[in-house]
Amino acid sequence: MVSTVVVLGGRGLLGQALMHELVRRGLPAVAVSRATGVDLSRLGSPQALAAELNPLAPGLVINAAAITELAACERDPDQACALHARLPGLLSAWARDTGVPWVQVSTDHYFCGTENRLHDEQAPVMLMNQYARSKYAGERLAILSRHALVLRTNVVGRRGWAGQPSFAEWVVQSLRSGQPFAGYVDSWASSLEAGQCASALLDLVDTGARGLVNLASAESISKADFMAELATAMGLDTRLIERQPRPQGGLTRANTLGLNVRCAQAQLGRALPDAQQVALALAAAFKETELVAA
Ligand SMILES: NC(=O)c1ccc[n+]([C@@H]2O[C@H](COP(=O)([O-])OP(=O)(O)OC[C@H]3O[C@@H](n4cnc5c(N)ncnc54)[C@H](OP(=O)(O)O)[C@@H]3O)[C@@H](O)[C@H]2O)c1
Repeated sequence: MVSTVVVLGGRGLLGQALMHELVRRGLPAVAVSRATGVDLSRLGSPQALAAELNPLAPGLVINAAAITELAACERDPDQACALHARLPGLLSAWARDTGVPWVQVSTDHYFCGTENRLHDEQAPVMLMNQYARSKYAGERLAILSRHALVLRTNVVGRRGWAGQPSFAEWVVQSLRSGQPFAGYVDSWASSLEAGQCASALLDLVDTGARGLVNLASAESISKADFMAELATAMGLDTRLIERQPRPQGGLTRANTLGLNVRCAQAQLGRALPDAQQVALALAAAFKETELVAA
């Protein structure tokens, strides 16, 4: 019998894609988040986490729960620490007791600079804000667990939360508005479309991979170039994108987020998508959802 996969944060951008992919693969899946009545940031002990997880008898737990709004992490650093750092610590302890494998979804929000670079798993990190500090603390705690696969990643996709568009949803809205909008030329990332990320994540789990692995697009490009790829893939007007540097001031953000995916590709035995393949998958995902909604 195939045992249940529990997705912490199953209502999020990546979480929804994971739930979809698990169902597609015929695997029983349960999403856990505040929407299902569980505030994971309030779990203060291994017993409290076990009380949530053990009744579900998971064969795998994927932690994709996070506060991805950077400003919210600054406003409430304790909450960010509880969710991003304490929870992986509790998951480590729970996995030690149960032997159940688990995946910690980390971030690429660790690198700043003036060049587009592909950072490998050993590259020195820079922790520019509370989001990065709390996620990095969680990543370090997760790596101590011999049952954990810890993935640095970057995802784009449709999330469908009213009033809180994801980056890709905002780009598509902006392109469709017909009004010019800013596309930064000095902020780079190797984003995967959420479905591509979910599929590759589950494939990596199947290989038995453990420890820290970058899971991203094989190519890192600027936000402006990514917007242009998406516009082209969707048949929208690339001239609306005003290519410019990021504005100065405000919350300090990491900007050169590219990840080197050599290890993931070797482990998977296949290439990960380039930027054009990511844009095409994203355009297809938008089209499919809009067809369903129509
Ligand atoms: N999106 C990106 O570009 C990106 C880039 C790099 C890394 N990542 C990482 O990828 C993972 C998934 O990100 P995402 O973009 O899918 O995030 P998201 O769309 O913001 O979703 C976050 C999820 O976490 C849940 N959540 C938040 N606070 C919670 C709490 N206190 N208790 C229980 N659940 C809580 C949310 O559900 P409820 O609201 O129902 O609680 C939601 O399901 C995260 O680890 C993130 O750090 C994302």
